[in-house]
Amino acid sequence: MARPKVELHLHLEGAAPPAFIRGLGREKKIDISGIFTPEGGYAYRDFEHFLSVYDTACTVLIGPEEFHRLVHAVLEESAANGVVYSETFLSPDFCGGCDLGAWREYLAAIREAAEQAETQHGITLRGIVTCIRHLGPEQAKKAAICAAETAGDWLVGFGMGGAENMGEQKDFAWAFDAAREAGLRLTTHAGEWRGPDEVRAAVRDLGVERVGHGVRAAEDPALVEELAEAGITLECCPGSNVFLGVYDRLEDHPIDELRRAGVNVTVSTDDPPFFHTTMRREYAALARCFNWDADVFDAVTKTALDAAFCDTATRDRIA
Ligand code: ADE
Ligand code: ZN
Repeated sequence: MARPKVELHLHLEGAAPPAFIRGLGREKKIDISGIFTPEGGYAYRDFEHFLSVYDTACTVLIGPEEFHRLVHAVLEESAANGVVYSETFLSPDFCGGCDLGAWREYLAAIREAAEQAETQHGITLRGIVTCIRHLGPEQAKKAAICAAETAGDWLVGFGMGGAENMGEQKDFAWAFDAAREAGLRLTTHAGEWRGPDEVRAAVRDLGVERVGHGVRAAEDPALVEELAEAGITLECCPGSNVFLGVYDRLEDHPIDELRRAGVNVTVSTDDPPFFHTTMRREYAALARCFNWDADVFDAVTKTALDAAFCDTATRDRIA
């Protein structure tokens, strides 16, 4: 039997199987044929184009009902890969354009589907609202308000994804402060495309306790030491980084170096069908490349559980 896996960094829409999105396109009579390869996968050239294909895929997710179906498709796949706990990025921008009333309806549908999937497949989902960096700070405020108004034991975190080269982390401080005041735990994408200073800015200017990717911190030994000392957790997504060209080969990825330096590293898939990965594939590749054995995987899973944003009762149930 597969070892139980804990995933902290998964984008709900980015986990949509291409066949599911293509099927919805046909059903809704929306022509999105341009985003698929002849083999039926997602087709894109680079990160910028990936973000644009991602947006196009989301155009068929037109209401709460479509998100309900999406959650079922995604959690079935995660559970089949041995994932027992999935912290998943939910985006009010894709769920009604950050309108609070609409967001409540989408969220109710997402949560209902997740609870059904928990009964069916034994996988627990907790939500992290994500704002989208390239939409700018004003739109991020709206996402943060959606998050703050629906914060609780199920919606547990707030984060930011999108194009890291747009603006600065500190431009989004209002959104992160509002989320923190509502009791949400914080993470932001940093150190995927920009270097160590961006990871520093994430911790210093937004006060996050986890960083999405964060791997380019490895370029600065002093920062690596600081992250280890401060107990900041990195949501590493090695397959994503290699597929998008942050590193040429998995052998060049710093996840093992960071782990050995005492940084809290975890393993996630990010947007699995976009990067032709799954949690099982990530684990197999890390075992092959860095000789990670059962003890290392157990330690990484414990790190992920300790860094999970859920309440202790949920954590104890999963552990
Ligand atoms: N949104 C979905 N996947 C992402 C990634 N890898 N980086 C930034 N934003 C994202
Ligand atoms: Zn991500």
